[in-house]
Amino acid sequence: MKASTLLSTLLPLTSAYSVPKDSSHVTSRIPTARESAILARRILTLTPLGTISTIFPSTSSSHNPKGVEGKPHALMEYISACDPLYPSNPTLLSLNISSTFRNAAGANLTVAVTWTHPPLPPPSRSFFSRLNPFFSDPTPVKAQSYSAAALPRYSLMGYLEPIEGADDPKSDTGQQVQACYTSVHPDAKYWLPGNRIHESHFVRMVVTEIYWVGGFGDRAYIGWIDAKDWESVTKEEIEGVRLPGEKPLDGKDL
Ligand SMILES: *[C@@H]1O[C@H](CO)[C@@H](O)[C@H](O)[C@H]1NC(C)=O
Ligand SMILES: *[C@@H]1O[C@H](CO)[C@@H](O)[C@H](O)[C@H]1NC(C)=O
Repeated sequence: MKASTLLSTLLPLTSAYSVPKDSSHVTSRIPTARESAILARRILTLTPLGTISTIFPSTSSSHNPKGVEGKPHALMEYISACDPLYPSNPTLLSLNISSTFRNAAGANLTVAVTWTHPPLPPPSRSFFSRLNPFFSDPTPVKAQSYSAAALPRYSLMGYLEPIEGADDPKSDTGQQVQACYTSVHPDAKYWLPGNRIHESHFVRMVVTEIYWVGGFGDRAYIGWIDAKDWESVTKEEIEGVRLPGEKPLDGKDL
């Protein structure tokens, strides 16, 4: 199959993005890097899991077998957007025992974030077939198609630093961070800082570079997002856009 045929087969599967204000132009132009930054920041607030990549240290350690030094290590980890001071930096709960956070100490890391399309509605059935399950519907409505390649995903590069006060549930910052984090990850209440089993600390991932793949390149931006664009996105901007599969801003069902 020719590449162009494949592309035109895949294109009808993609959902349109909602970008701020002039959404009528969405299908006729590719969102800018700044508009993509807004979508990316919304994804961060709605996505509890990411894949964190680190590098095994070049010096051998009793934790790891020989031969893994310098190799990439990628694992699913809990993420959140709970930093009251710097909301553009993911908030992570670093467990000392975790291989990801051992590798990340004093090093750079990458977190990959993927927008998960909300479940699609089942194909609708005609009035008659709903009344009678034995009635075979002559014109079944086709289910909406799904293409993961059409959905936005990105990687954030950076390094970790402590969030001052966040480990102390009695401080203002600690209260805010811990309430936010456990609302995203209720099960994490068992390994919050100060628990009896595993030493843990809240850390912020200071984002230094952002690489974005918004979907198919004819309608989505693919490339680097300036860290200033990533940081400057406001709460209002995040609330003013919608991602593929979300209820549109006007509240009507898709
Ligand atoms: C646990 O990790 C933190 C950094 O996140 C470090 O400051 C602390 O010393 C470590 N604790 C132990 C017992 O190694
Ligand atoms: C992390 O990346 C920065 C560039 O953003 C670089 O200057 C620094 O050396 C890196 N740190 C380590 C420990 O490799």
